[in-house]
Amino acid sequence: MTDDAPTPRSDLVSKIDTSVPHSARIWNYWLGGKDNYEVDRAAGDAYCRVFPGIVDIARASRRFLTRSVRFLTEEAGLRQFLDVGTGLPTADNTHQIAQRIAPDARIVYVDNDPLVLMHAHALLTSTPQGATEYIEADLREPEAILGRAAGTLDLKEPVGLILSGILGHVPTGEEARTIVRRLMEGLLPGSYLSLNEGIDTDGEYVRAQRAYNESGAIPYHLRTLTEVTGYFEGLELVDPGVVPVTRWRPEIAAVGESQSLGQAGGVARKP
Ligand SMILES: C[S@@+](CC[C@H](N)C(=O)[O-])C[C@H]1O[C@@H](n2cnc3c(N)ncnc32)[C@H](O)[C@@H]1O
Repeated sequence: MTDDAPTPRSDLVSKIDTSVPHSARIWNYWLGGKDNYEVDRAAGDAYCRVFPGIVDIARASRRFLTRSVRFLTEEAGLRQFLDVGTGLPTADNTHQIAQRIAPDARIVYVDNDPLVLMHAHALLTSTPQGATEYIEADLREPEAILGRAAGTLDLKEPVGLILSGILGHVPTGEEARTIVRRLMEGLLPGSYLSLNEGIDTDGEYVRAQRAYNESGAIPYHLRTLTEVTGYFEGLELVDPGVVPVTRWRPEIAAVGESQSLGQAGGVARKP
């Protein structure tokens, strides 16, 4: 599962802190999943009382991920993906979306949460022609991530970097921007970035997020649209640029979906 010896399950269980709410588990709760604890459901419900739109945001963010990975596989022709901040497995994970179109696609998942690692076997159900790998690593060590991803991905070929709802966990927008730059520096021209993040357009969203950040959970910082657009500096944005995720190449089926403005996303190519 990693280059190192796999962490024994008992060690993982002891690392799971069920006394404070946790990002991946609350996100899983809002997405309708079952991999969460009472403390996460309580925090998720408290958040919804201030800003009910968060459930739509979580779901719209996943649908953006699906459409962008489909675009990268089908239209950009990518066959390799690096998904950092994977989260808990849901119905449609990056490898399933990509391998439905290209069974030979290779995917590396990265997260630093012990519960995500415990569920990683569900992320490792590759087609026989392709490959999936899970790496336990920290976003704040981009070179280490690239070094380990090279065990599964051929970094002499383009890669699709997926950063979906993770950069808000980095304290400042500037630091987050540096991380994106360092990750993209390790990838060839012709590689792509698919990124989506929460933005501070709605006062109730900002208030709910502030209360969440004071709950003991690892904070998540909403950014401005300008900051999220800045993450793509030096890259060529594909149409329609950085927009609310519901407006990024929507499908007919998505008509009627709430036009959530609180999550901005885009896809760009490294020239
Ligand atoms: C809000 S969830 C998003 C999950 C998924 N990408 C999605 O879009 O549904 C954020 C994920 O980032 C992970 N994460 C947070 N900080 C991290 C870090 N410093 N290094 C690696 N993963 C991190 C969390 O464990 C969690 O799984």
